[in-house]
Amino acid sequence: MSNVVSYQIVDNIGVISVNNPPVNALAQVVRAGILEAVTAAQSDATDALVLRCEGRTFIAGADITEFGKPPQGPGLPEVLGAIENSVKPVIAAIHGTALGGGFEVSLACHYRCAIASAKVGLPEVKLGLLPGAGGTQRVPRIAGVKVALDMIASGNPIAAEKAKALNLIDEVVAGDDVQAGAIAYAKELVASGAPLKRIRDITIDPATVEPGFFEAARKQLAARARGQIAPDRIVSCIEAAVGQSMDAGLDRERELFMELVTSPESAAMRHIFFAERQAAKIKDLPRDTPLREVKKVAVIGGGTMGGGIAMCFANVGIQVVMVEINDEALARGLGIIEKNYAITMKKGKLTEAQVAQCMGAISGTTDYADLADVDMIIEAVFENLELKKEIFAKLDAVCKPGAILASNTSYQDIDAIAAATKRPQDVLGMHFFSPANVMKLLEVVRGEKTADDALATAMAIGKKIGKVCALSRVCYGFIGNRMLGGYGRESQMLLLDGCTPAKVDAALEGFGMAMGPLAMGDLAGLDVGYKAREGRTDLPNDPKLYRMGTVLVEMDRFGQKTGAGFYKYDPATRARMNDPEIEALIKSEAAALGVEQREVSDQEILERCLYPLINEGALILEEGIAQRPSDIDVVYVFGYAFPAPKGGPMHYADHVGLKNVYDKICEFRDRYGEEYWKPAPLLEKLAKEGKTFAQWGAEQEQSLR
Ligand code: 3HC
Ligand code: NAI
Repeated sequence: MSNVVSYQIVDNIGVISVNNPPVNALAQVVRAGILEAVTAAQSDATDALVLRCEGRTFIAGADITEFGKPPQGPGLPEVLGAIENSVKPVIAAIHGTALGGGFEVSLACHYRCAIASAKVGLPEVKLGLLPGAGGTQRVPRIAGVKVALDMIASGNPIAAEKAKALNLIDEVVAGDDVQAGAIAYAKELVASGAPLKRIRDITIDPATVEPGFFEAARKQLAARARGQIAPDRIVSCIEAAVGQSMDAGLDRERELFMELVTSPESAAMRHIFFAERQAAKIKDLPRDTPLREVKKVAVIGGGTMGGGIAMCFANVGIQVVMVEINDEALARGLGIIEKNYAITMKKGKLTEAQVAQCMGAISGTTDYADLADVDMIIEAVFENLELKKEIFAKLDAVCKPGAILASNTSYQDIDAIAAATKRPQDVLGMHFFSPANVMKLLEVVRGEKTADDALATAMAIGKKIGKVCALSRVCYGFIGNRMLGGYGRESQMLLLDGCTPAKVDAALEGFGMAMGPLAMGDLAGLDVGYKAREGRTDLPNDPKLYRMGTVLVEMDRFGQKTGAGFYKYDPATRARMNDPEIEALIKSEAAALGVEQREVSDQEILERCLYPLINEGALILEEGIAQRPSDIDVVYVFGYAFPAPKGGPMHYADHVGLKNVYDKICEFRDRYGEEYWKPAPLLEKLAKEGKTFAQWGAEQEQSLR
């Protein structure tokens, strides 16, 4: 037997234990070990078998690192077949999370029990896949097609009690000791002569499925697919479970699983899965860097960002005090938080008691002296360097030694802010994204003098409040906003070249962006960019640059907040509508600037908007602002809603081919000038060497070892 799967007999029950840390993924050794143990147990003296796991969780799925590599037997279907055909009952004993292939293993067992804290789920869709070991066939057989579709298309885990109510598991055992509970349950089953329940023997009568159910599901899922093909294939698999034999359904599932596992969409989503975890690791910081204790947090400024940031901490039970300039502003800030919680409660995401608990964790003050006992301060006042410096000097005077002083600034120089204190080692950036209580990304900005333990603490606290953290060094706009410059610029240039706002946005939304760049500008407020440009001296002196954004602001069309920007907005529904007046205005501005309008293809729109992201990303890598290409992908997927099935800008560039990207950028340079299109040296080098950013990133990691 493999050394990761062991077998022992306890009171006539054979206990098969998997021990493959960290998450007991179904690597080849695990599959082989389970198969061997189940086969051997058929002829021993036990009455039943319990399948359980060591460590923090039941099997959390197939080993994702094995996808794309040559398969090594035994395959999962063979293991599941041995379990299902066992002559004695096999009982899955679930703790932690039984996910993907792990839950599918349990579905091949005759019975499933779990402790109350356990969860079960089929998250494959989040990797651009579908459950490939019978999940799409067994779940509809025991829980019905609707539950199966909800569970598999959402990928969300289900807690034990609910899973029992849905018939996904048979028993919730008392206490925390899943092995003891499962053995007791197994004995009960043996004593009562419980049958060998095989889910494969159930057939689903087509008459029990509402007519049109699958067509409606397909339509609904397509509307939010954003380039994902897995949801559609999931519907097809569940459809194949209805009225057909298990084997026919499994064949269909295998066929579609193979299609997905070799698709670029799934490769991109698996890349993001690992990139997210990798981003949490700081290259030159040992994993055991000590952390500072964070029990109480202060947020300075209760505006758009401050309120959301306060909620992030309150949601996980950390005390937070909000600081504002006067009682009125404080009351407004706290009021917005209260309103946000009320909306969350209405949606059924939090109970009244939970909201009360969160609100109870938030207090307010207008007196900086009240910050003497806080462990971490996050400043979120207006975007003004002098004001921020003033505030950090004040914090330096009142905060206890070792308190972490963070700024949520979007663009300002963290080192200049740190220099306003006598403790620059405690200063760093914690850049949240709007709305801060919703968006997953947190850019943690490392200043020149930031101490290792302050940085490690910021990353750890980010994870604790449910954020995906990515590290940036100091530069204008850090990783995300710095890269956005060319994206916004080109989206406006394309208007002068002959596109309508709707055409530009449709091309990028077709690519999978949640919202096109011009609609995004309207949402964020065109005045914000306008003001930011006013203070910049480094921009080319070109009347075409941001022309339409400037004209719109000067017409008081700031975007959604004024009811009009690139588009008009319905006052009641906020629905965006094309505005013929703006389309005509674009034409006349182009004529005034001597730009000859032409038909622009969707392909060109994508290249002109997306390639600046890639080029700036390459510069950011060369300058050491980002640690690795995959960190940039994490920033874009979690902070800017870049479509995960495209894997982030750097992964997408690798997919397109760096030579193709480089050649196109050279073509644009020749057409539009070097001040806008200058290929990054790293991009040029890799394109000429025929390499990818991923290869370059791996070489960099290797050179550190
Ligand atoms: N395969 C390989 N490695 C995995 C893995 C998997 N299925 N799941 C997690 N890991 C690795 C992570 O990469 C990470 O590695 P690192 O320490 O080197 O960075 C380590 O395990 C710990 O993972 P987390 O940091 O995510 O640990 P958490 O405790 O925060 O979360 C978890 C645990 C909830 C199990 C989470 O890891 C998770 O969601 N894993 C993926 C589950 C999944 O998607 N399963 C389906 C796989 S596809 C499948 O099963 C196909 C089948 O239908 C045929
Ligand atoms: P905002 O204008 O909504 O709120 C700022 C708040 O700070 C106001 O309520 C103001 O009363 C308060 N304030 C001003 N001076 C103060 C002082 N001395 N002490 C205490 N409170 C004070 O601004 P917003 O949008 O929340 O931005 C805050 C910061 O977050 C800025 O640095 C901005 O660049 C950054 N940011 C903004 C994002 C956004 O989408 N709005 C996204 C990410 C970062």
